[in-house]
Amino acid sequence: MIIIQQGELVLTDRILTGDLLIDGDKIVAIDEHVPVPEGAKVIDAKGCYVFPGFIDPHTHFQMTNALASTADDFDSGTKAAILGGTTSIINFASPEEGSLCKGLEVHKERAAGHCSCDYKFHMELVEMNDTVAGEIPKVVEAGVSSFKVYLAYGFRLTDREIYDAIEAIKPTGALVGAHCENGDLIDALVADKRKRGELDISNHPLTRPAMIESESIKRFSTIGASLEYPVHVVHVSSKEGVEEILRERALGHTVTCETCPQYLVLDESRYSLPNYEGAKYVMSPPLRTKVDQMTLKEALVNGTFQTIGSDHCSFNFEGQKLKSRHDFTRIPGGIPGAEERGIVAYDVLVNQCNMSAVDFMKLVSENPAKLYGMYPKKGTLAVGSDGDITIVDKSVEHVLSKESAHTKADYIPYEGISVTGKVRDVILRGHHVVQDGSLTESYLGECIP
Ligand code: URP
Ligand code: ZN
Ligand code: ZN
Ligand code: ZN
Repeated sequence: MIIIQQGELVLTDRILTGDLLIDGDKIVAIDEHVPVPEGAKVIDAKGCYVFPGFIDPHTHFQMTNALASTADDFDSGTKAAILGGTTSIINFASPEEGSLCKGLEVHKERAAGHCSCDYKFHMELVEMNDTVAGEIPKVVEAGVSSFKVYLAYGFRLTDREIYDAIEAIKPTGALVGAHCENGDLIDALVADKRKRGELDISNHPLTRPAMIESESIKRFSTIGASLEYPVHVVHVSSKEGVEEILRERALGHTVTCETCPQYLVLDESRYSLPNYEGAKYVMSPPLRTKVDQMTLKEALVNGTFQTIGSDHCSFNFEGQKLKSRHDFTRIPGGIPGAEERGIVAYDVLVNQCNMSAVDFMKLVSENPAKLYGMYPKKGTLAVGSDGDITIVDKSVEHVLSKESAHTKADYIPYEGISVTGKVRDVILRGHHVVQDGSLTESYLGECIP
């Protein structure tokens, strides 16, 4: 048994300064004062927020694309995640040999016994045909509660294919998420850059302007609305993107959305850094302007967004990204960030934007649990819920650096950024897995049913 004493417990509707008792893997008591059972381990949480374990709804661990394999596998990726207070991740699973069932099986095998936090999978749909449609209910039966389609990249679906995908998903009730950027238009802009020989890193954001995101959000939402089915937009990066979502909602279309910490604290000036350092920040959608950052923060504060994902997709700077410094189109896109997601978002929202700890908790824990079918097992401090707890010491100021990070990538995008608030302890289903910022037990993570 573990009893957490006198922390600021971040409940769904208020903060309660009190005690929380975990017996086995479940929360069994929450009150101003809970008697200490004999033999219970006592954790003093004075001066700390006690959150339900954070949930990262967007990771790409152990991923291989056309250009490279990620630095982080499930082992290192989930260690970084749990040290950052994330007790559950939802990772992307791709089909294998055209089969969703096989893809899910392969990804479950890769993760099993290698995860330090709990995990679940989104199923990517990279082609649409009768076999795929027939397998959709089967993978839902096997625990998948969300699918992802792409409107960009070589494996994007056409509008008709997205329509067919949503039509097939609709009877299952699963969530349909999308990477919204107009792939055809990106290809045209890239071809133009290539023709002109303009291939240095600073051209990357110019081939993916914000209107390419907002157009695609509009189109995806319209397809969902044609089938009267809700849609979810991942990694929204721009003011135009936010405005498009609001316009769609005003039309009565149900659109939920996610943004990522990198779009709040990093901007497009990174692409012009000397020594090709801009390659570190090549990701899609690209980093935007300060105006976009402001708009995203306001939208987070006013409740426009439901979730914050890391989009952790880690490639090394040396050896992977730097290799293609003279041709931005060949730089593998993505950044590490699973470890920093929670605390960067906390610092921006709670410290800088005066968001309440309760509202912040909803973004990083409760809402993803609800959207992805894990609530109330996950995502809440409640009697009967899993004993997944993240304790943040509010007073500790620290500087983020690769040196103290746990990604296997050779850099972190948040290098040198100072934050106030530190993940001190983490409990995963009753196991005190992070103590004073260090991992005590690994590989206890289980597949979330
Ligand atoms: O550039 C990025 N974000 N890479 C990860 C894959 C994706 O698009 O989410
Ligand atoms: Zn994406
Ligand atoms: Zn992603
Ligand atoms: Zn244990």
